[in-house]
Amino acid sequence: MVRFALFGAGFIGQVHGGNLATHPHTRLQYVYDVNAEAAQRLAGRYGANVARSVEEIFGAEDVDAVLIASSTNTHADLLRAAIRARKPVYCEKPIDMSLDRVKAVVQEAHDNPVPVMMGFSRRFDPNHRALREAVRAGEVGVVEMIHMVCRSAAPPPLSYIQVSGGQFRDQTIHMFDLLCWIAGQEPVEVYATGSSMMDPAITAAGDVDTSMLILKFADGALCHIDNSRHTGYGYDERIEVFGSQGLVESRRKPVREVALYKGSKVVEEGMFAGWFERMEPSFLLAVEAFAAALEGRAGAEYPTLMDGLRAQMIAEAAVESLKRNQPAPIEYWQPA
Ligand SMILES: NC(=O)c1ccc[n+]([C@@H]2O[C@H](COP(=O)([O-])OP(=O)(O)OC[C@H]3O[C@@H](n4cnc5c(N)ncnc54)[C@H](O)[C@@H]3O)[C@@H](O)[C@H]2O)c1
Repeated sequence: MVRFALFGAGFIGQVHGGNLATHPHTRLQYVYDVNAEAAQRLAGRYGANVARSVEEIFGAEDVDAVLIASSTNTHADLLRAAIRARKPVYCEKPIDMSLDRVKAVVQEAHDNPVPVMMGFSRRFDPNHRALREAVRAGEVGVVEMIHMVCRSAAPPPLSYIQVSGGQFRDQTIHMFDLLCWIAGQEPVEVYATGSSMMDPAITAAGDVDTSMLILKFADGALCHIDNSRHTGYGYDERIEVFGSQGLVESRRKPVREVALYKGSKVVEEGMFAGWFERMEPSFLLAVEAFAAALEGRAGAEYPTLMDGLRAQMIAEAAVESLKRNQPAPIEYWQPA
């Protein structure tokens, strides 16, 4: 049983809180949020304690690990505090908006290692996982092309977009992690282009809502990512890997695999309403993987802080490419 303290009782904090409280291998021990009412509401729902400060959590003897689900600008400081307190930590993505701060945290974690899991929950989607297993088992031969589609049903509120770091650091970052995890290698170059087509306020925020990226691996393999912030038909995410001996795809997932055949028409179920409805089960599987690793169960693996750094460095190069409208090399910094 791993006893967790949770930072953040907002949208994703409530998801993690519920999972930690109900999973048989984890317990929701404390909740801390600067919004004390939100912390109280969440803790009260599951009989957890409300912490009055960050220090209270890191000083508590009945905390085995922490989960950081607070706003992005708090991740780096809380990560550092967890590393210093020698507490394993599950941290939501991204590590921080500033690459310098990201590097400082990664260096500190490198000098004082504790288990750190990044919240790349899409790795736990059973379909994406099966696709990756097929690729890594050589079922499609040498990977030549990867196609990824990541289209949200509707854009997040403007207030979120303004502090999100932009579409690549916020939305595409999941795809950057997935493509390295699937291919087992890292891209060396990215060309990103994008437009803001759905809301002039997104343009005013300096962001794009419609983008395409082409990434190149050292062995010549190519990856294409297509991103949108709205669809009008629900959440649309899919991955296709084309290799020298075949193709494997993790398809668009409908809500149910039911089709009505009537007259000259076939009516099928549509997409999930949004990314969360599509991806919800993967959050519990992610927590399960981290708890399993902390308990030393065989075969448990999870995305690490270094994976968070890698995805972020790809995002930084994509931002640079978009700005300069030309391909950008991807530089991978490593802690000394
Ligand atoms: N892995 C994923 O797919 C995924 C999905 C959604 C959000 N996220 C990440 O999770 C984080 C939170 O997102 P959200 O949608 O829940 O946001 P949110 O705004 O709903 O919640 C953030 C919460 O953090 C609290 N908070 C702010 N400063 C704090 C501090 N110093 N200590 C403790 N709590 C503090 C706020 O009061 C708020 O309750 C973001 O970093 C986001 O990128 C990841």
